Amino acid sequence: MVRDAALNIQPNPEQLAQAAADFISAQVRVKPELNILVATGHTPMATYAELARRAEAGEVDFSRATAVQLDEYLGIDDDDPRSLWGWMRRSFVEPLRLTRTVRLESPAQFGTALARLGGLDLAVLGLGPNGHLGFNEPPSLPDAPTRTLALTPASLESNRAYWGELAVPEGAITAGMDVILAARQTLLLVGGTHKRAVLHAALKGPETPEVPASFLRRTALTVIADEAAWA
Ligand code: GLP
Repeated sequence: MVRDAALNIQPNPEQLAQAAADFISAQVRVKPELNILVATGHTPMATYAELARRAEAGEVDFSRATAVQLDEYLGIDDDDPRSLWGWMRRSFVEPLRLTRTVRLESPAQFGTALARLGGLDLAVLGLGPNGHLGFNEPPSLPDAPTRTLALTPASLESNRAYWGELAVPEGAITAGMDVILAARQTLLLVGGTHKRAVLHAALKGPETPEVPASFLRRTALTVIADEAAWA
């Protein structure tokens, strides 16, 4: 099954963040108990900041929503600055005032927690420069489960931008492709010229494990990108 993704191109990163905040706010108004898979990375940060502003102003209420962790490095402590759990808490859970979270600790624990939630309502995702989703590195099939894996050289390189002098951990755990593709709605956020080739591959190239994001076309997908990533 291939659907046409809704493609929303915004002139700049600020307007991308506004459009993405509009999309997410509308979902939580329809369903206050929204279960949201939450990407970290640079792309969604302005969106989360705008949602925090709206929550602070009383324009939207996330207090009954649940934030679900997308991915994590292996072998680091809870208080390590590289913890993606910490990044999600600081950028999303705390400023938007969520009270419910699901942490990604092991495939079994995560699967049980998701089943208890009744699945994901919304997956908010970024696009890896190598086409990965979460840490579903190429090649990843659509039924790839939640698992631990070794990061590819491309991801070690792109993740270096987050941590300055600190090394990028070499292992990771990721929500599976099966979990991501089963979300009832998916929002993919893409900005910058460095994402242009992979965005076009994901939306217009063949569906292939070499570009895991290409399988998003099987889902109820909304893409919000800026001109730099699309033009
Ligand atoms: C990272 C993360 C993803 C993120 C993606 C894009 O490696 N594992 O969860 O969405 O790559 O990151 P950015 O938004 O910084 O480009």
